[in-house]
Amino acid sequence: MKNILFVASEAVPFVKTGGLADVVGSLPRCFDKAYFDVRVIVPKYMCIPEDWRGRMTYLDHFYMDYLGQSRYVGIMQCVYEGITYYFIDNESYFWGNRPYGDWLFDLEKFTFFCQAALSALPVIGFRPHVVHCHDWQTGLIPVYLKDRFRGGDFYADMKSVITVHNLKFQGVWDVATIQRLSGLSAYYFTPDKLEAYKNGNLLKGGIVFADAVTTVSETYAKEIQMPFYGEGLDGLMRARANSLRGIVNGIDYEEFSPATDQYIAKHFDARTFRKEKPANKRALQQELGLDVDERKMMIGMVSRLTDQKGLDLIAWVMDALCNDDIQLVVLGTGEERYENMFRHFDWKYQHKVSANIYYSEALSHKIYAACDAYLMPSLFEPCGLSQLIALRYGSIPIVRETGGLKDTVQPYNEFESTGTGFSFCNYNADEMLHTIREAERIYYDKKREWNKMVDRAMAKDYSWHVSALKYQELYDWLVGW
Ligand code: ADP
Ligand code: GLC
Repeated sequence: MKNILFVASEAVPFVKTGGLADVVGSLPRCFDKAYFDVRVIVPKYMCIPEDWRGRMTYLDHFYMDYLGQSRYVGIMQCVYEGITYYFIDNESYFWGNRPYGDWLFDLEKFTFFCQAALSALPVIGFRPHVVHCHDWQTGLIPVYLKDRFRGGDFYADMKSVITVHNLKFQGVWDVATIQRLSGLSAYYFTPDKLEAYKNGNLLKGGIVFADAVTTVSETYAKEIQMPFYGEGLDGLMRARANSLRGIVNGIDYEEFSPATDQYIAKHFDARTFRKEKPANKRALQQELGLDVDERKMMIGMVSRLTDQKGLDLIAWVMDALCNDDIQLVVLGTGEERYENMFRHFDWKYQHKVSANIYYSEALSHKIYAACDAYLMPSLFEPCGLSQLIALRYGSIPIVRETGGLKDTVQPYNEFESTGTGFSFCNYNADEMLHTIREAERIYYDKKREWNKMVDRAMAKDYSWHVSALKYQELYDWLVGW
C-alpha cells in the first residue's frame, strides 16, 4: 500500500475559490483503494461553513516554533466519501471570510501551514510515501523535505510532486521577507533555487526541489516553457522539462450529472436532451427575467472575472454581440471593471443579458444545464473545468485554443461533421466574435448538425479515471515499487 498525502489550500466541499478545490476534492476518491491510501490536508479556515466544521473531530494538537514564538497547531479530522481529510487549526492565521486576502499575510499563513502540515504527520501517525503539493501555497514543502525535515527515519525518502494549477500566482516577496518567513538559510536564495528576479519565490522553490512536477494539461505543459505563458519561469520549466508532465483534469461525474443534478429543473441525459434540456432553459429565462423563448440561443459563462478569462475580448464586442439574436447569462465575481461591465450590459439589454455578480453553486448548475453554448475565450487556461462541465451538460463550448481548452474541445468541422465545440486561435476580439457567429449560424440554420454535436459532446468522457491512472503511474515511478 502506498500512502499519498495531498496538501492544498482549498478542497471541495469544505472551501472553494476555483478549480483547484474541485480537483483536490474529487481526484483523491478516484485512486485504486487496494493500492493507494490517499489523504488530504488543508487549513481549517474559519470561513468553512459551520455545517462542515461541525462534522470535524478533534484529533490532537501540539506547539510549533514559528517566527520566534511557540504556536498552536490543532489537528482536526473528517472522513468524507471515504477520504480522510485533516485540517490544520490556528485561528490567528485562518480567520477571515475568505481563504486569501492580503498578499504578505498570505505568505506568512501558508508558510506556517507548510511547516505545520509536515510537523503534524508523526502526530497523526500517517507516513506518506509521496506528498502531492498544489500551487504556490504549498511550494515550500518540497524544499523543507530536502532541508529541515530531512533527518530522521520518519521523513527519509519521502518524495514530493508539485502540480502547477496556475503559474501566474507564485508567492513572491523580497528575499529578506521570504527568508525570514521560511526560516531557510541564504544558501537557498540564489537564482537556481528560490530567488527569481531578485525576489524570493515560493512556487519556484517547489518546482526546483520537487521530485516531479506536473501541470493540468499537456498543452499548458508545453506553453509554460515559452515566454508568453511562462510568467518569467519559462527557463526553469525548460530546465525541468524532463520531470514535467501535463495530466489533464477530470471532473466529478456524480456531482456534475444532468441525469441526477439536484439543482436543475429537468433531468436529461445523452438520449433525452433534445426533448428535456430546453425545459432548463425556459426555467432559467423565467428565473432571471429574460425573454422566455426556448428557441433563443443562450450563451453561458460561469467564471472568476479576471484577465485570465479573456473578458477584455468580450467587453470589446459586447454591443455587437448583444445585437445578435442571442441571450447571455453570466455568473461570476472578480475584478470590479468586469463586474461593472456585465452589470452595465444587463441594464442596457435587460431581456437578453443577465449578469449575476455573486457566487452560487445552484445557479452555476442551472446555467450549465440551460445554455446552448458556453463561452470561455481565455487568455491562458491551465486546464479549465467549466468547459468539461459544459460538455457533460450538452452545452457546446466556444473557446480560445489555449492550454486545457485546446486539449479538451475538438473544433467543429462542418464538412466531416466532427468536433465538440467552436474554437479560435488568436487573442483577438473579432476572431472571437466571428467564431461565436459561426456557432449562431449552425445553431439557427443547421439544428440537426448542432444536436449531433451535442451527442458527441455528451459522449466524451472527462471523468477522472484516465488521469487518475496517470497520477498512479507517477507515484509508482517516484516510490520505485
Ligand atoms: P479557475 O480555477 O481558473 O477559476 P476552472 O474552470 O478550472 O477555472 O474552475 C472554475 C470552477 O469554479 C468551476 O467549477 C466553476 O463552475 C466554478 N465557479 C466559478 N465562478 C463561480 C461562481 N460565481 N459561482 C459558482 N461557481 C463558480
Ligand atoms: C486553476 C486554473 C484552471 C484549472 C484549475 C484546476 O485555477 O486556472 O485552468 O482548471 O486550476 O487545475
